[in-house]
Amino acid sequence: MKQIIIQGGNLLEGTIRISGAKNSAVALVPASLLSDELVKLDNIPNISDIDALNEILTFLGAKVSRKGELMEIDSSAVENKSIPESISKKLRASYYFMGALLGKYKKVEMYFPGGCSIGARPINLHLKGFEALGAKVIGEGSKYTIIADELKGGHIYLDTVSVGATINIMLAAVKATGITIIDNAAKEPEIVNVATFLNQMGAKISGAGTSQIRITGVEKLGSCYMEVIPDRIEAGTYVIAGALMGKNLKIENIIPEHIEALLTKLREMGVSLDTYDDYLTISKSDNLKPVDITTQVYPGFATDLQQPITALLTTCNGVSTLEETIYENRFQNVEYLNKLGANITIDGQKIIIDGPSKLVGKKVVATDLRAGACLILSGLTAQGETIIEEVEHILRGYENIIEKLEAVGAKIKLEEI
Ligand code: EPZ
Repeated sequence: MKQIIIQGGNLLEGTIRISGAKNSAVALVPASLLSDELVKLDNIPNISDIDALNEILTFLGAKVSRKGELMEIDSSAVENKSIPESISKKLRASYYFMGALLGKYKKVEMYFPGGCSIGARPINLHLKGFEALGAKVIGEGSKYTIIADELKGGHIYLDTVSVGATINIMLAAVKATGITIIDNAAKEPEIVNVATFLNQMGAKISGAGTSQIRITGVEKLGSCYMEVIPDRIEAGTYVIAGALMGKNLKIENIIPEHIEALLTKLREMGVSLDTYDDYLTISKSDNLKPVDITTQVYPGFATDLQQPITALLTTCNGVSTLEETIYENRFQNVEYLNKLGANITIDGQKIIIDGPSKLVGKKVVATDLRAGACLILSGLTAQGETIIEEVEHILRGYENIIEKLEAVGAKIKLEEI
């Protein structure tokens, strides 16, 4: 088992380069199965979620090679077989094999996906979408068999805006007969990245990034080269690190527009930052004003930055509030922030953060990916040593986080225990 140890109080100076987006890459890798030819994906982050998807691809018979950030996938020898739960439960995004295999072979057999325990996270909207395309869904416990004689385009209205369901229905519909309309679709940048990838392979998708996506089915998808967009959540996490402990810290390889909701809140708090085309600079600011934040679907304030921003809100002069509207169980970091000396109360789907608090390092636990990121951020500011356990959650979604922070002056290390 591993733990992360941080000596707090060190300013962060220099440059952090943002990697490819986890939540885009984990969709692009399964989607590559839809092609009948070689696919090249670049800017793939080196994180354990990608290793898990790789394991599923290889299990299905795809030939996968990786050179640095470049991944080449040849799925011409794939055999469509039931995916064991042992590998699909390693991550949430394994559910993208449902859309990809159904779209290509009109049949898929796999189990309910894994992923962070931040809520019930059902997949009913994915399954409803597949049924609207003419598929039959047979559920036996946590195992699903989804099968169709033919997939026909249909009109799908998503009851809840869902990133995963929007992408999965796109994957199943690109080779369906006729036109599919997804209404109330999610608009996240990762969806645009996936739609662009599919279009480059020969699909006909329009409206990605808006709430109505239109897909005209095609028979064949060819080869392509595609780059993963920069990770806006990783970027947001380091921007917050800069607001906490930065000394003219530079965050490069970003798309500022993708984190505009965060930057707006930071400016409202009084954080000094300057944005440029593909980078920004930021410094530690004192006397920050408290703010009220509500998480929303894109382009609103991202739920994945809710826990990281809480670390900063503990330093504000006064009472901030944070309302979580996407997940019902995403405040598991609060108990540990209070253990470090914060003053946070939970009131249903809202937390009230009474600052400023002087944090003191202690032993804490990463309960999920973004909760872990929050504890690293607080550890950077806390007096003394903070020890974070169950760090596998963090390593699943942040490429080289220890090396990146160390390179700009953080006293941080990963240790086997
Ligand atoms: C994606 O999850 C991301 N994960 C999440 O990031 C992110 O929090 C989320 O989108 C929202 O932005 C990946 O891309 C792998 P949803 P996803 O479907 O697709 C409910 C991280 O930290 N819902 O948009 O699973 C659901 O329970 C992770 O990187 C249904 O009710 O999220 C949630 O309350 C965590 N039925 C809401 O919709 C469904 O069939 C939004 O979920 C699907 C979703």
